[in-house]
Amino acid sequence: MTDPRDPRHLAPDAPLLDAWLRFTAAQARGEVTPFSVPGHKHRTDLVGDVIRGDVPLYAGLAPVKETHALLADGEARAAAAWGVDWARMSVGGSTHANQASILALGGPGRPVVVSRTLHRSVLLGIVLAGLRPVWVRPEIDAATGLPGGVPVAAVEAALAAHPDACGVLVGDPSYVGTMSDITGLAEAAHAAGVPLVVDAAWSAYLGFSLRVPGHALQRGADALVTSAHKALPSWTQAALLLARSTRDGGLLDPDRLERAFEATHTTSPAGAILASTDAARALLQRDGEEVVGRLVRLVDGARSRLREVEGMSVLTDSATLAVDPAKLVVLLAGTGAHGHAVERDLLAAGMPLEMADRDVLVPMVTMGDDEDSVGRLVDALAAAVERHRGEPRRVEPSPAWTVEAETAVDPRTAFFAAHETVAADAAVGRVCAELIAPYPPGVPVLAPGEVVTVDALEALRAVRADGGRIAYAADPTLATLQVVD
Ligand SMILES: Cc1ncc(COP(=O)(O)O)c(C=O)c1O
Repeated sequence: MTDPRDPRHLAPDAPLLDAWLRFTAAQARGEVTPFSVPGHKHRTDLVGDVIRGDVPLYAGLAPVKETHALLADGEARAAAAWGVDWARMSVGGSTHANQASILALGGPGRPVVVSRTLHRSVLLGIVLAGLRPVWVRPEIDAATGLPGGVPVAAVEAALAAHPDACGVLVGDPSYVGTMSDITGLAEAAHAAGVPLVVDAAWSAYLGFSLRVPGHALQRGADALVTSAHKALPSWTQAALLLARSTRDGGLLDPDRLERAFEATHTTSPAGAILASTDAARALLQRDGEEVVGRLVRLVDGARSRLREVEGMSVLTDSATLAVDPAKLVVLLAGTGAHGHAVERDLLAAGMPLEMADRDVLVPMVTMGDDEDSVGRLVDALAAAVERHRGEPRRVEPSPAWTVEAETAVDPRTAFFAAHETVAADAAVGRVCAELIAPYPPGVPVLAPGEVVTVDALEALRAVRADGGRIAYAADPTLATLQVVD
């Protein structure tokens, strides 16, 4: 394997990366005096290094009139890498890719079958498109309190009850790396004549090594959303929307996909973000077996060592769960240590975690890690648990996974409705106008259009009382809630 730290090795197969390297080299030689945006003009004497590496797509990676061909080349390579005919690279994260895919599915009033444990961006996509969600939920694993796969039978039943549904949308792998039977879900969707869209925000590496399962498109899905910035060595915000369109025997109209993607994307994409997506794609294609295989070995090694800590366990395949082998999820209930206390210790040691609640920690281990960094993580985790050890406790699933939504009006109607702010207790029984989610994982416990139930309110209060962060609510203290007038 060539050294992945030297981008020149990837450039021959990564036209956007190549363009970024050429531009920054020319600019370093003083050959560029741009009279186009961005306004910093690559000068670091005004605001310092913060603008370093920022090259726009238009009039940066290529002259404006040549940009389309360059971008089309990079995106065609991404489509080929994932084995489909349509791909777009986004600078708006999986948030944008989710919303674009939903806008491509159907128009106002159409039902869409959606897993209720999806990210908030999906709900806001539903608001944008005016779709009516038909919720399905994953099974909750009794041993861990975590969501497993979305049952195929639940999707079949939802589609049978809503024959006018325009699609099915699930997250796979879930936030905690658990996997659904995508082949079965795709068969169920296709039997009803509708596409399956899969939000794989966290697992862009699937399908690029024999050590990990195939990606959702290989397993029958019609579209795949993924954040290159989460799991791959790409700039923050880098994401991909990939699809098998009607041109290639799929169910998604490429023109609709195109319009939906452009409708919600900036007209000034950062070329550096796109170039890093292109580079990560080239790396996966060239060295996927090596870099993804090494990631799986790192995670495997961490899992083995963490299992040796008394009371600690890690999420792995079981009789009831299929788990992404490259995802590290640490379960603390058996140690009695509180996840927030462990997280604070790790923060103090300079190791921020992706997620921590009382019972579950999600440290992101990626192909950017090595034996040394993962070894230090494991040591720090083990030491923090010893400092905070307590009575082993029963696992309590987070309300993000268990909340039973009662949808009274569709999310778009509630989003645009006049609202009032009332004391939280007085909101019970009213229709929620806002989206409220413990973050991470950003899965809404209350969404626009849903009835505020005592259970949802109590669950949110419990998260806050336990030190969790309540996000997106107008009043994150939960003293008041916004309800439809
Ligand atoms: C399942 C899921 N989908 C989509 C997103 C949005 O991704 P991004 O932050 O890249 O916009 C997230 C973010 O955490 C997520 O967890």
